[in-house]
Amino acid sequence: MSFVDAALAPPRKTGQIKLHNAEAFAAMRRAGRLVAECLDMLIGEVAPGVPTEKIDRLVYDYAMDHGALPATLMYRGYRKSTCTSINHVVCHGIPNEKPMREGDIVNIDVTLILDGWHGDSSRMYAVGEIPRRAERLIDVTYEAMMRGIAAIKPGGATGDIGAAIQSYVEAQHMSVVRDFCGHGLGRLFHDEPNIVHVGRAGEGTALRPGMFFTVEPMINLGRPHVKVLSDGWTAVTRDRSLSAQFEHTVGVTDKGVEIFTTSPKGLHKPPYTG
Ligand code: MF3
Ligand code: CO
Ligand code: CO
Repeated sequence: MSFVDAALAPPRKTGQIKLHNAEAFAAMRRAGRLVAECLDMLIGEVAPGVPTEKIDRLVYDYAMDHGALPATLMYRGYRKSTCTSINHVVCHGIPNEKPMREGDIVNIDVTLILDGWHGDSSRMYAVGEIPRRAERLIDVTYEAMMRGIAAIKPGGATGDIGAAIQSYVEAQHMSVVRDFCGHGLGRLFHDEPNIVHVGRAGEGTALRPGMFFTVEPMINLGRPHVKVLSDGWTAVTRDRSLSAQFEHTVGVTDKGVEIFTTSPKGLHKPPYTG
């Protein structure tokens, strides 16, 4: 993999990894914070009887009110402002009119474009009271993401992230989805490199200051295998086991890593109250 000064690179996928400057970090802090505030706003809105379509509308309105655009809207034929993935849906669930039900767990994934820069983050939400095994899955998935992020430092490699996630998750007797990965982003939504959530330390792409990417592990209670439904988007576990995901957008710094999408209110994972 070769690297290029992002300020000089064309705004498309070029096969080179873009390295960003201090101005770009400042722009990503703004985009990331907006996404985090949007995810904070949704906490009071997830409840039994509420359709995911309503969540989608709230995110659309939030983007409009804050001078941002939902990146997923009209992206590769996708027509919604969020992905809402319930229970055995791994990712890319399409918001619809079906009411959420007590005991469901839902991932809400929001990507906003602010002043041309992408912030991409998702969290899990509990619909009312949820089963103990769902709580465990959510806790393990959040911890997996944070261990992956903690492994990031300049001079390291993308395999350090995957190794940290995989070793932790498999020790909890859960599994890491292979079919979807994190991704470089910035002025683009999905750029090089891929961030695979399994692997071996030291392998993969070198980590350098100025890289922006997401860490977004999908963790299953059962086996890791997924299939995509006939709508072309919705990915589900083949064994119909529960799946969870968290996602942060991060930047590699001279000293380590900066998370752009941290909740300003400290609302990192459920339970979001008491
Ligand atoms: N936000 C998702 C991600 O984390 C991508 C969704 S693309 C869509 O990369 F088209 F499905 F919305
Ligand atoms: Co992403
Ligand atoms: Co996302």
